[in-house]
Amino acid sequence: PSHKQEVVTIDGPSGVGKSTISRRIASSLSFTYLDTGAMYRAVGLKLKNDNIDLGDEGAVRESLMNVSLQLLPANQGSEDVGVLLDGDDVSQEIRSPEMAMVASAVSAIPAVRQKLTVMQQEIGKKGRIVAEGRDIGTVVFPNAAWKFYLDAAPEIRMQRRADQLRLQGKQVDEEKLLAMIVKRDHDDQNRTIAPLCKAEDAHTIDTGVLTIDGVVEAMLREISRHSV
Ligand code: DC
Repeated sequence: PSHKQEVVTIDGPSGVGKSTISRRIASSLSFTYLDTGAMYRAVGLKLKNDNIDLGDEGAVRESLMNVSLQLLPANQGSEDVGVLLDGDDVSQEIRSPEMAMVASAVSAIPAVRQKLTVMQQEIGKKGRIVAEGRDIGTVVFPNAAWKFYLDAAPEIRMQRRADQLRLQGKQVDEEKLLAMIVKRDHDDQNRTIAPLCKAEDAHTIDTGVLTIDGVVEAMLREISRHSV
């Protein structure tokens, strides 16, 4: 018998198409989609609202002691999962490029990673989930049966983000957006704990050269090659 978990992990840098692809894979397999980035974003908002000094690990730990996070299925007309933070709907608020930077900053704090990693492992215990993030195949579910690492050039990822933001009616400064993406990649890849990197046993897919359909097809083919 295999000791692998019935979990699909999808890691990669920001704007690579992880959410869209994860949602499609989850729906094809009838698995639950777990957006771990949404959890880091919500915790970032919490620490920001509480005015916590991010250098004070004790204060961070205390602020998160009784935090309540609830992930909700995407609303009609939205691609993103919803989030209730201590009962408040913060779904919109956490999706700005600024909150992405805050999420990236708080994600380097050990107390934050510990807290969220445990929550994610708890959610994944029963299996049948598609989890996306930065450290899912390496740290959160190292025994996952199917692991993927998505990648694409920063310019392509920036362009996609810009298109998304414009669809939401937002103004976009492409140069600034590219700089934010490059900085976030750099910080996520170079932090001490659970940095963004490919798990040894992950399949790398370049989402810059394939259509979304092409990526999803390739992944489903790979998943069907072996069961748990
Ligand atoms: O996937 P996202 O853009 O919503 O993630 C926001 C930030 O959260 C990302 O820049 C780094 C952090 N993050 C993380 O450190 N580990 C994860 N598993 C998911 C997100």
